[in-house]
Amino acid sequence: MLRKTLLPFFTLCVTTAIATCFDLSPAFPVPEWPHGAEDLASVFNSIEKQLKDLIADEKYDAASFSVEVTSSSESLWSQYHTARKRNETRPGAERVDGDSLYRIASITKVFTTLGLLYQHEAGNLDLQSPISKYIPELAVNGGEIPWHDITLRTLASQLSGLPRDFAQSDLMIGPPDPISIGLPPASRERMPDCDEDSNFDSACDGTDLIEWLKKAEPLFAPNQQSTYSNLNFELIGLALERASNKDFKTYMRDAILEPLNMTLSTLDTPPDDTHAVLPLGDNYWGIEEGVQNPTGGIYSSTNDMSKFLRYILTHYNAIAKGINWLMPASWGTGLQNFYGMPFEILRTDKILKESTRPITFATKGGGLPGYTTLISIVPEYGLGITVLVGCAECGKLLSAIQEIITVELIRGAEEVLWRAVDKTYTGFYTATNEKLNSSLKLAVSPSTGLMVNTFISNGTNVLGGFISKYLVDNSRPWHLQLVPTLLFKDESGQQGEIWRMIPVYEREEGLDRGVWDELCSTDVDILRYAGLPLNEVVFWQSNGIVELPAWKVRMSRDTVEEDALVVQD
Ligand SMILES: *[C@@H]1O[C@H](CO)[C@@H](O)[C@H](O)[C@H]1NC(C)=O
Ligand SMILES: *[C@@H]1O[C@H](CO)[C@@H](O)[C@H](O)[C@H]1NC(C)=O
Ligand SMILES: *[C@@H]1O[C@H](CO)[C@@H](O)[C@H](O)[C@H]1NC(C)=O
Ligand SMILES: *[C@@H]1O[C@H](CO)[C@@H](O)[C@H](O)[C@H]1NC(C)=O
Repeated sequence: MLRKTLLPFFTLCVTTAIATCFDLSPAFPVPEWPHGAEDLASVFNSIEKQLKDLIADEKYDAASFSVEVTSSSESLWSQYHTARKRNETRPGAERVDGDSLYRIASITKVFTTLGLLYQHEAGNLDLQSPISKYIPELAVNGGEIPWHDITLRTLASQLSGLPRDFAQSDLMIGPPDPISIGLPPASRERMPDCDEDSNFDSACDGTDLIEWLKKAEPLFAPNQQSTYSNLNFELIGLALERASNKDFKTYMRDAILEPLNMTLSTLDTPPDDTHAVLPLGDNYWGIEEGVQNPTGGIYSSTNDMSKFLRYILTHYNAIAKGINWLMPASWGTGLQNFYGMPFEILRTDKILKESTRPITFATKGGGLPGYTTLISIVPEYGLGITVLVGCAECGKLLSAIQEIITVELIRGAEEVLWRAVDKTYTGFYTATNEKLNSSLKLAVSPSTGLMVNTFISNGTNVLGGFISKYLVDNSRPWHLQLVPTLLFKDESGQQGEIWRMIPVYEREEGLDRGVWDELCSTDVDILRYAGLPLNEVVFWQSNGIVELPAWKVRMSRDTVEEDALVVQD
């Protein structure tokens, strides 16, 4: 009786456990790029050539750029270009190089947020507390904005619903003359008397910002919808000053720039032009941003930014308890955009040619007159990219550079990675206990990742038996993929990489299975046997052993079979 009631329950459990999930990731352990630039030499050659062709266009005569790719341990590649046309009276740096300084503009928000995470972890600020706790003046005769519902986390995630700017981007300032574009005559009554609005005679301070905010109206209710706002980070900057008892510039220097050895990076205008990238025409070099410094004030170089990216690549999940810094906080517009804190995240399936596995870039871009900038962190590949462009009128030069670098880099990295995975993991494994007829055959391909092709346990075909009979919907194509958990087991001084085996459905071209076929509740912990996870796999690299704890078996790798290698040359 008991058995009768339990059986259907078990079947139901199992079939719902295998959700329709395609393209599992991460598909490989985070690569360390042990041979540095060598691993990717041909990729970088190709990028260099394309960048040279791009910048040769005369419309970029006045453009300088610095670009650098770093792994989590060292710089892998860089390229610099000095503008062919420069200001003759004040040309700036003689030659652009890795120490050349640009205004990195809104990338500064990443530094401000890092400061916030530090102060949260130190207990001086609380991400979950409203900003009005730290700047009580906001809520005194506070106007329309619901300050008590706007937490520090809400601000850092671009979810506050606050307006974008208060002292920049006002068309009253021109050019063009507002009347010439059809705007009516207007007074400056609602504009603060600082920054752009004072012709840069005086930077805005905290009082200017707070007074302006009291008259401002929200765009959205807090946490309703993300929208880009510089004010979010100006307020975090004020909170940081109060929590640290230092002015913002000093706090950034003491907490981040000096500890990370970002020797040339600064919030003050550099004392001379030795490293200055000074594009022809309008540029923001030398403009003091005051209360707007936390949103866009830093000057930095690709050398320094790579130090910063290496820090993020190695610490993003360990800076503050409970926070993985690269995770999204809200979706943006469209299917592929997300806001983090304060990262602008793109997930795209357009890069890989043989798979629809999404590639995730946590980016932050910036723009000020004369400068466009972008950092991209690709945690699954252990790579960080900095692109700094100095040019007053170069339109989409930065996007063109970013497109070339990221697409080439990720495609090239994939080739190198699958070759490495093939060398390290694939082949035929047989039980170390010779009396046991247990074996695994692992193969790799760029479209499926590392997968189990045969799985025999004690003379029983597991893949063709238990898994295909009970675990998957056999009417559609699937494979048993191995995905790394990025965790390790320690055993008498040895380290074992922990992976999981997961049945994954394959996309069938041209076959419409309906909208809901895309719903995937990721679940990599499917079943247990005698209290152990059924699908856990441990690779003991030092002796070529693979262990399946629930199956109580250790297998050693025999010769690599030729047909295990599916990677194309
Ligand atoms: C700090 O950076 C400078 C310039 O990049 C470098 O020469 C120096 O060795 C670095 N110091 C440390 C401790 O890494
Ligand atoms: C060149 O630099 C001088 C000195 O900073 C400045 O006054 C002038 O406007 C600049 N000219 C151009 C075309 O950028
Ligand atoms: C192998 O299977 C036999 C039955 O065919 C069983 O008696 C034995 O306990 C199994 N041994 C292991 C180690 O799984
Ligand atoms: C091991 O088991 C498989 C699956 O049942 C079987 O095909 C194979 O012949 C067995 N090998 C040996 C050496 O018994």
